[in-house]
Amino acid sequence: MTDLNALPADFTWGVATAAYQIEGAVTEDGRSPSIWDTFSHTPGKVDGGDTGDVACDHYHRTAEDIGLIQRVGADAYRFSIAWPRVVPGGDGPVNKAGLDFYDRLVDGLLEAGITPFATLYHWDLPQVLQDRGGWTVRETSEHFAAYASRVVERLGDRVKEWATLNEPLCSAWIGHLEGRMAPGLTDLTAAVRASYHLHLGHGLAVQAIRAASSDARVGIVNNLSPIEPATTSEADLAAARRADGHINRWWLDPVLGRGYPQDMVELYGVELPVRAGDLETIAAPLDWLGLNYYFRQIVTADPTGPAPGFTQVPADGGRHTYMDWEVYADGLEQLLLRLTEEYGVERVYVTENGSAYRDTVAADGSVHDPERVRYLEEHLAACARAVAKGAPLAGYFAWSLLDNFEWAYGYDKRFGLVHVDYATQRRTVKSSGRRYAELIREHANRRTGLVS
Ligand code: FCB
Repeated sequence: MTDLNALPADFTWGVATAAYQIEGAVTEDGRSPSIWDTFSHTPGKVDGGDTGDVACDHYHRTAEDIGLIQRVGADAYRFSIAWPRVVPGGDGPVNKAGLDFYDRLVDGLLEAGITPFATLYHWDLPQVLQDRGGWTVRETSEHFAAYASRVVERLGDRVKEWATLNEPLCSAWIGHLEGRMAPGLTDLTAAVRASYHLHLGHGLAVQAIRAASSDARVGIVNNLSPIEPATTSEADLAAARRADGHINRWWLDPVLGRGYPQDMVELYGVELPVRAGDLETIAAPLDWLGLNYYFRQIVTADPTGPAPGFTQVPADGGRHTYMDWEVYADGLEQLLLRLTEEYGVERVYVTENGSAYRDTVAADGSVHDPERVRYLEEHLAACARAVAKGAPLAGYFAWSLLDNFEWAYGYDKRFGLVHVDYATQRRTVKSSGRRYAELIREHANRRTGLVS
């Protein structure tokens, strides 16, 4: 039995998805191409040549998918809104048909008793803005805030929980430095500038959201990793400090009012395009912080790679998912406690956590995924331990509701609590989805005293 007693009575139990990974319908109702349409259609960028053209066809199967959220027991749904559906020109006029889709989704969720958590940017920048410099230019931050206003003006009467950006680290470092994600650049100057404009866009969007909806609760979603040196050598200890700067501190410090870490500014050697007032804008007070957790990183000094002076080494032994990511639930507890103790964060959600395995459909049509069940139980137990030690954890969102388009890995990597047969779009709740519902029920029953 997984002991989740420490989780608060009003704990939010969620599942998460992102627009480009599930929606499909990429040319419908006035949507313009995003950088991920361009990237996925560029030969060699995505495993198997997969694209998000159809994905889970969620755009046409919204009602069925809301039913699945209920079946896995969740009371909250974190989804993202596609900027190129809402403002296909990047800036300028709103596409009513695009916003209508999210309007219907939100109404459907509320009717089903599910709380919407909307993310405004999960990596699908309108390609037209990329053509004008994308996140490397300041105008994109301003356009992002304008788009945020339009969305919140329309949905803010019903959606109260807003995230600005999902994992800006991936947009900046993986998209502009390592080149493994859209827009596929490998340029440190572009990457640092993009990181800055993502932060500025976040800060401006916080202002825009609050201006459009006085009772909005706003956060940002970061993916973080505990960092460990591979050895106790001076070189590896220094590499771990750099890795922590690159992966964690660069993304937390400016948003939480500490400014950019000076050691990293010096290491990158790229001047930040700061204007008066920007750092205050970036550090606008938030209602919550979102933590996406997948793995820890063990690092060694390495002057050759794209990351600044370190490289990740594999963890010895242990279990790994099909992504080859180490299963390390203690890392989630460590990060929650670090946010609490070192950063003084007062409310945090685990906005993503999950695992890919090679799931297969059995002859009787069921999908049995014991490794994902174990992963889920272990990470929820880590959440409960962190709460018992004082972490202000308000909720957990399993990644993901559905198997979906896993970015550069395509459809081969399945993260869902619900299996998707891409040939037929048939959905099957996996054992993990049923187990999630059971854990949520147990937690509710214990809290209401039905079970001791
Ligand atoms: C995160 C992304 C999410 C998903 C998971 C596996 O980095 O935010 O869209 O791809 O990884």
